[in-house]
Amino acid sequence: MTTARHIKLGFILHGVGRTWTDWLHPDADPGASTNFRFYTRQAQLAERGKFDFLFVADSLSITEKSSPHYLNRFEPITILSALAAVTEKIGLVGTLTVSYSEPFNVARQFASLDHISGGRAGWNVVTSWLGDTAANFSKTEHPAHDVRYRIAAEYLQVVQGLWDSWEDDAHVGDKASGLFVDPEKLHRLDHKGTYFQVRGPLNIKRSRQGQPVIFQAGASDDGRNFAARHADAIFGSAQTLEEAQEYYRDVKARARGFGRDPSEMFILPGIGPLIGLTEAEAEQNYQTLAGLGSLETGLGFLARSFNDHDFSRYDLDGPFPDVAALGFNSQQSSSQKILAQVAAENLTLRQIAQRLATPRGQFVGTPAQIADRLEAWFSQEGADGFVLFETLPGQLDLFVDHVVPLLQARGLFRTEYEGDTFRQNLGLRFPVNRYTAARQARTAA
Ligand SMILES: Cc1cc2nc3c(=O)[nH]c(=O)nc-3n(C[C@H](O)[C@H](O)[C@H](O)COP(=O)(O)O)c2cc1C
Repeated sequence: MTTARHIKLGFILHGVGRTWTDWLHPDADPGASTNFRFYTRQAQLAERGKFDFLFVADSLSITEKSSPHYLNRFEPITILSALAAVTEKIGLVGTLTVSYSEPFNVARQFASLDHISGGRAGWNVVTSWLGDTAANFSKTEHPAHDVRYRIAAEYLQVVQGLWDSWEDDAHVGDKASGLFVDPEKLHRLDHKGTYFQVRGPLNIKRSRQGQPVIFQAGASDDGRNFAARHADAIFGSAQTLEEAQEYYRDVKARARGFGRDPSEMFILPGIGPLIGLTEAEAEQNYQTLAGLGSLETGLGFLARSFNDHDFSRYDLDGPFPDVAALGFNSQQSSSQKILAQVAAENLTLRQIAQRLATPRGQFVGTPAQIADRLEAWFSQEGADGFVLFETLPGQLDLFVDHVVPLLQARGLFRTEYEGDTFRQNLGLRFPVNRYTAARQARTAA
């Protein structure tokens, strides 16, 4: 099933916020990250706005300096399963890392979410950038960046193989004959690879959408290849249209190189709109956010790109410390971007931290200005859609009530969900079970 090309929209459920200081806003609930009512309200609001999906990010290691949302938050599959019960159409995407989990469990968890939600699950496949995560999983070493992506490729192959364990008509449930399942339609995977040996079959059948949708956010060379080869939707982190276009064209070209149709994969930059009903109000909202943002936030974002390194130990007005190697094995691309900016402008630690704390971005303005900008990125090969995080309390309401109607009036966004499953709403093909496809090919030959 295909639908007219329209902007895809996702919303990041991020509790107390993205930065270290968002929770200080007078209207923010410091307990939001583990408040089910807060999640329910945001989920239902995004669904009222006809968003394609909700997204729950995740990581598995904290220090006392991690951002407030990281310090205390729900495990993604658990919260998404609960949200499945209070929503009807919106996709439910969760992060789960391949570096600290087993494919069999993960295949089963996402298949369960896919059934519970009636075919609305998506998996954001990540490799984990925080080296200390190893210490939480009885391991002494965090795998190197390139190894993590090799593990990811094999891991995904196993999970998708397990998801096809049952052909769609395998569960007969015929009381008259006593046939519960057709054993011919149950398949073992018998995977024996470099990192995994998994026999299968999986103990849950396929959902209405066949298999969960695959998300990824590769930014490094290895990451981009992984995303281009395997993902249905890809998160990006461009700050400008030019950056977004570079990423968009590069990843789509890689996808073409892997024999894929680039129009069947969606590139979705993460953005944090700051909307005001007038320009003055939007500017005031930016100033409010910037006022909350502190050096602590800037140092926090720096730490995140460099394997949770503690930058507060350095002279803030001295030269930027030599930490390139830490970044290379952690968030490779974002750390390199920071280092390039520091080198180009000879920035001190304080200067780069302040920039990171209060980025202005291209999405500050009135609803019409935001809609214009979204349209520009969408129509000029910068994005197929966007994944939004809420910058200040009330911003999702403003987006749903004032920006979405403008996008709809311009024919850029749906006015009603097209189908019931996540794949139908995204306009993605139903993945035919590999064994069914092989049988059909044999019959046709
Ligand atoms: C919108 C967005 C959401 C992301 N969500 C997560 C997440 O939940 N967990 C995670 O470990 N990484 C997340 N990432 C980071 C990516 O997994 C990846 O580490 C990062 O893009 C760097 O890519 P690289 O490893 O190819 O350098 C996200 C990135 C973006 C842009």
